[in-house]
Amino acid sequence: MSDPKRRMILNLFLQNAGSHKGAWRHESTQLDEIHDVKHFQRIAQKAEAARIDTLFIADGLSIEAKAVQHGPILSFEPLTLLASIAAVTERIGLIATVSTSFNEPYNAARIFSSLDHISGGRAGWNIVTTGVERTAFNFGLPQLPPHAERYARAKEFTEVALKLWNSWDADALVQDKASGVYADAQKVHDIHHEGTYYSVRGALNMMRSPQGRPLLIQAGASEAGRSLAAQYAELIFTVQHSFEDAQLFYNDIKMRTSQAGRSPNDIKVLPGLHVIVAETEAEALEKASDLQQLGSIERAVMSLSNLLGIDFSTYALDDPFPPLPDHKEINAYQSFYQMVQKIVENKSLTLRELLEKHWIGNGQLRIAGTPVQVADLMEDWFLNGAADGFSVMPQLGFRGTEAFLDLVVPELQRRGLFPTSYAGTTLRENLGFDLLL
Ligand SMILES: Cc1cc2nc3c(=O)[nH]c(=O)nc-3n(C[C@H](O)[C@H](O)[C@H](O)COP(=O)(O)O)c2cc1C
Repeated sequence: MSDPKRRMILNLFLQNAGSHKGAWRHESTQLDEIHDVKHFQRIAQKAEAARIDTLFIADGLSIEAKAVQHGPILSFEPLTLLASIAAVTERIGLIATVSTSFNEPYNAARIFSSLDHISGGRAGWNIVTTGVERTAFNFGLPQLPPHAERYARAKEFTEVALKLWNSWDADALVQDKASGVYADAQKVHDIHHEGTYYSVRGALNMMRSPQGRPLLIQAGASEAGRSLAAQYAELIFTVQHSFEDAQLFYNDIKMRTSQAGRSPNDIKVLPGLHVIVAETEAEALEKASDLQQLGSIERAVMSLSNLLGIDFSTYALDDPFPPLPDHKEINAYQSFYQMVQKIVENKSLTLRELLEKHWIGNGQLRIAGTPVQVADLMEDWFLNGAADGFSVMPQLGFRGTEAFLDLVVPELQRRGLFPTSYAGTTLRENLGFDLLL
């Protein structure tokens, strides 16, 4: 039976020039905005006024120097940017990526606890393992650790972070000036963690945060990624290209979450949605076609190579798409590998055709259309077991984000699919999860 209280969750990707790699060249993009924190704050306020659940900032810890020619790569460091956004918003959730392969759990637990305090309980952590080889070279490693090891570390890293967040009992703070007791030392516990990868005595140097701990998000679709999500995550971001595959993924994640001893409702599945919306279909399609002209094929080759860990620059663009190695040989992002594999299987595509027709938005679900057309697609996936909501990636930066907020969100609200007000002040309350106090 369908749950009458079930409603769509909307996560908004906060990006500099937009999810389309050519968006920075579009006439509507104001380039001075993408390095000015005030514009990020303004768009966050606008998203909050539209009642968007969460803002998300992705992150990577390396750049390919030659790629900078083709557009902005990454923007501000996510946690510092979100702290500045927290100061000018009150309800919207704030999610940042932090990699478990290139950080220490003590630092990560501390910064997310800090953001949870600063924002009054709105922090979320996107747990990623990082699949870009050259990142290793920025951290003193000769190569990226193998996929399985990265995930084994991620699991232990998450467990240590959870222990650290629990190292302060909810009532540890006393603040009694008369007796001279600031905090009850019996209620602050060293964690004494000794594991395979980490040795952490604890406790955290920060009292328990307003949500108890931040929301946990996971974004990998390999076997190991799915298991990690099933065990710990409250949201899972996913790369999906077709409705059928999205349904299979959705059912698999819900089943794994049950097997991990949690309710299937304890995890929400959010496919990415690359969107261009305009009042008329013709206008939306024109924008899509403009962007198609502005994209760079060299940049697309680089992004495909990075995400799959295969150097496609050595292949001729107009030759048939080369056979892909077995997934066990892929040490990069299996999520993207699986999707490309689905796109190319049983089709005779060239590398150029794959990149020009399917790689817009890194191959993820995308639509250009009117508010009704966009809402129809979202409703279909939401009501038919393919999604609990979406990670919305406007292809055209701030202008595209405004269009989504002004045109699509009211349409979803009119249909009763998306709420019109926040339920509480913390992210966990707003998404219907319990506070962990
Ligand atoms: C919506 C979405 C957002 C993601 N954000 C990041 C990110 O910010 N940084 C990153 O390194 N990987 C990011 N990823 C990639 C996944 O985390 C990545 O697939 C995972 O770490 C590697 O695991 P896998 O091999 O299980 O796919 C994202 C993936 C998705 C679907």
